[in-house]
Amino acid sequence: MKEANHVQEEGIQALGSRNTTDELEAWRVEYLGKAGKMTLLVRSIGQLPKEQRSEAGKVLNVARKALTEALEEKLIAVKNAEKSARLAAARFDPTLPGTPVPTGNRHPIRMVMEEIQTIFDSMGFAIAQGPEVEEDTYNFELLNIPEDHPARDMWDTFYTQNGEVLRTHTSPVQIRSMHAHAPEPVKVICPGRVFRYEQVTARSESMFHQIEGLEVGPDVTMSDLLGVLQAFARKLFGDQRTIRVRNSFFPFTEPSIEVDVDCFNCEGKGCSICKHTGWIEILGAGMVHPVVLKNGGYDPNGMSGYAFGLGIERIAMLRYRIQDIRHFYRNDLRFLRQFHSAR
Ligand code: FA5
Repeated sequence: MKEANHVQEEGIQALGSRNTTDELEAWRVEYLGKAGKMTLLVRSIGQLPKEQRSEAGKVLNVARKALTEALEEKLIAVKNAEKSARLAAARFDPTLPGTPVPTGNRHPIRMVMEEIQTIFDSMGFAIAQGPEVEEDTYNFELLNIPEDHPARDMWDTFYTQNGEVLRTHTSPVQIRSMHAHAPEPVKVICPGRVFRYEQVTARSESMFHQIEGLEVGPDVTMSDLLGVLQAFARKLFGDQRTIRVRNSFFPFTEPSIEVDVDCFNCEGKGCSICKHTGWIEILGAGMVHPVVLKNGGYDPNGMSGYAFGLGIERIAMLRYRIQDIRHFYRNDLRFLRQFHSAR
């Protein structure tokens, strides 16, 4: 069958000048498609005299196979060439930085809290927790603050309808920790959220965070307290820091003190951060009052203890030079994102 050879040769020659997948598809339709040249020849076998059909069929099969294989081979070559051209056109630069995946960051209060926890952890303090909605007895009574005690004024309070309070400080966890450990010694810090019914200003919020510290044991003294606080101040604000102790009053400690650290910004010379005093107040503390020890389940004649309480927001304000406490809880991303790379 001469036509078969002719169509095969013509097809193979035509294939040589088709160089895209689209062109190859057009070629396939022209030669091997339903109405393609080779397909029509195959169909025409029926019109040949019977004795020629078998021979013609063989020839046509060989010719069609040759075209099909030539097409497949060319298709692979063209696809590879197209892929290389696409990659070359994209001019991929592997040195370009990738697209960053947006990530959040810890809140500055959380960061400072974790830093303080790590410091006390290194000094052997375990972490204790207590409820934010607290019983009046734990928040006040057992801490030696009876109903009519003037100290209650210092902690103007949110009450629930059934007489519980949103805890005004983390000190109730002192009592809870003593109850959990007495008569054995205890050494814990209690981080958490506290609430006060107060005028919100640049330095005061109605919700803020404190960390309470408590150690009770057979020979715990004021020197232990001062040593712990000195070490804490140095780890938080730098090795050169020194602390200063002032008289104070808390109903649950006796004696009570306020602790200042010399200003890390001006080295004590006086600046806006320390309000030109050279000192920054960081916490309240004292020796646990004997009545409180007793309320906690200890014998004040055999056991003694110290406690301290500090406000995280005020420390975070010092740490990051933040002028207004209200920034922490406004959820302004411009403020919060500044702490993305802070430690
Ligand atoms: C107390 O709450 C005592 N429970 C601390 C204590 C514990 C003393 C154990 C002795 C022994 P005070 O009311 O001073 O004390 O609060 C402690 C700290 O919380 C303050 O130094 C301050 O840093 C922070 N603070 C108090 N009120 C606010 C407020 N409204 N907003 C932000 N921080 C506050």
